[in-house]
Amino acid sequence: MQRYISGLEGGPEALNDLLRLAAAIKADPEATYRRKPLAGKIMGSIFLNPSLRTRASMEAAMVRLGGHMISLAPGGGSWGIEFETGAVMDGNQAEHIIEAARVLSGYVDLLGMRSFAGMQDFHLDMQDRAIQALADYATVPVLSLESAVYHPCQALADALTLHELFQGAPQGRRFALVWATHPRMCGVAVPHSALLTAARLGMEVVVAHPEGYDLHAPVVEAARALAHAAGGDVSFTDSMEQACRGAHVVYAKAWGSPLDYGQGDAGPARNRAHAAWTLGAHHMEQGDDARFMHCLPVRRNVVVTDQVIDSPASAVIQQAHNRMWAQMALAIQMVDAAR
Ligand code: CP
Repeated sequence: MQRYISGLEGGPEALNDLLRLAAAIKADPEATYRRKPLAGKIMGSIFLNPSLRTRASMEAAMVRLGGHMISLAPGGGSWGIEFETGAVMDGNQAEHIIEAARVLSGYVDLLGMRSFAGMQDFHLDMQDRAIQALADYATVPVLSLESAVYHPCQALADALTLHELFQGAPQGRRFALVWATHPRMCGVAVPHSALLTAARLGMEVVVAHPEGYDLHAPVVEAARALAHAAGGDVSFTDSMEQACRGAHVVYAKAWGSPLDYGQGDAGPARNRAHAAWTLGAHHMEQGDDARFMHCLPVRRNVVVTDQVIDSPASAVIQQAHNRMWAQMALAIQMVDAAR
């Protein structure tokens, strides 16, 4: 794969190959480490936004596989990057993505970037221009470390986790993706990727959110098509309680209303109006031995209560640890494909 941006690249076959490889590495890591499959290989990463899991798990993956990772923080330790074609660069950004991508491609074997949504214009954000520009100008494979639209590494780790939770058979299980309140406006990359992941695993997906928090329609349509192809379905409700009823998985996540992009405090105010949307034990009790999932970081007792996240039903640490195994598989496959 030359690029991994939506996580849908390569279709079901690529997903299954990645899941098999990730599970095999996880089952016997020392065997893989001894082989050093990425010896001498370097990943370059550009973090336009903060990260704990993505950065640490990607670095750990590269080093454990015998390779190395260079992490850049534009505007901090490296030059600020301009992404707009034809921009008059008389502001704060000193470097254009055209040169940055081409230069870094001469140093490394794989490039990754984290580029969150600007949260000013929903439809502009949904064009995902920053990660697309990196992929267009780079001459090495490009892996998204979360963009405005998708979080494919989280998606792959979540798919691995769902396989583990249901002994390789998540198909037909009820997957509740529930909106949760938050003091800030969050992007839609994680809910999009969670929706697509559960859909392509053939789960019965129900998405719960208050009115006005619609996800990007093309992503929802893609999820429906993937779910139907895999024997599942996607439905919507405006009730957290209803979504949790009979659920095998409850995946909580805050995201911003498209109506509030560029509207200052309107997003947090709208979230506050739905302060009751905190996932609690009474919701989980409605499920069918339901497991709790979240990508982390999470606002405890805002998004989810301590009681839920600290319960045996919580899979959040398993999800976070699976980031490393999933990204090992991705890095090996992407570097190998370019050899
Ligand atoms: N889930 C996730 O991507 O975590 P970070 O933002 O810490 O990388």
